Amino acid sequence: MSWVRWLVCPRWRSLAVGHDGGVAPPLPSSTARLRFRFWRGDDGALAWQLWGDRSVTALLSLAPLVRADIDARLASEITCAAEHGVQYWPLFEGDRFVGCAGLRPRPDALLELGVHLCADAQGRGLATEAARAVIAFAFSVLGAPALFAGHHPANQASAHLLRKLGFVQTHTELYPPTGLLHPSYRLSAPNRDRHRG
Ligand SMILES: CC(C)(COP(=O)(O)OP(=O)(O)OC[C@H]1O[C@@H](n2cnc3c(N)ncnc32)[C@H](O)[C@@H]1OP(=O)(O)O)[C@@H](O)C(=O)NCCC(=O)NCCS
Repeated sequence: MSWVRWLVCPRWRSLAVGHDGGVAPPLPSSTARLRFRFWRGDDGALAWQLWGDRSVTALLSLAPLVRADIDARLASEITCAAEHGVQYWPLFEGDRFVGCAGLRPRPDALLELGVHLCADAQGRGLATEAARAVIAFAFSVLGAPALFAGHHPANQASAHLLRKLGFVQTHTELYPPTGLLHPSYRLSAPNRDRHRG
């Protein structure tokens, strides 16, 4: 199945100029410090560098991720891009891998925003920079009406980041990987009402 499956929405479909001809889905724009690309099958070492670090996943999963978990996570990102055109794209500052940020579809049809930074890349504003690029992409390129985000109840950095980005807490929701109720947020597209019929 090619990535064209994600082009089910008319707005998104208009972005398609082909698929088997090798045209890739669009990516968020580069920022002052960061560029995005798609995960590849040979990115196992980068995936391990990020998700193999317990300080990164401590508030994302109950147990440390082992190699098989990380291989599966990498495969699921690649599948997500193939099927939906989005993923938690790997992020680079120059040539240096610094983590991932992006979108994934939810059962309620909203796209979920997520940012995972390598430990030595945190605390420099890169999460804010990456998230803003992903949000702009979701609203202006994909035409998403709103975004979802959530975090572990103890993740103060994530709570601060989401509020700073304009997300509003709406409810709590069970997050199976931690077994906890996660504060859950929504961010509506700017000027959404102005464009309504
Ligand atoms: C959450 C995460 C992405 C934030 O990354 P970061 O590099 O600290 O983010 P930024 O530097 O852009 O900072 C974002 C804001 O959060 C604040 N912040 C950072 N750590 C904080 C903490 N522990 N408590 C409270 N606020 C914090 C920063 O001060 C900044 O706010 P400011 O601009 O008003 O000063 C990063 O900690 C991470 O990748 N964690 C592991 C994965 C994860 O839990 N992801 C979130 C779930 S998707």
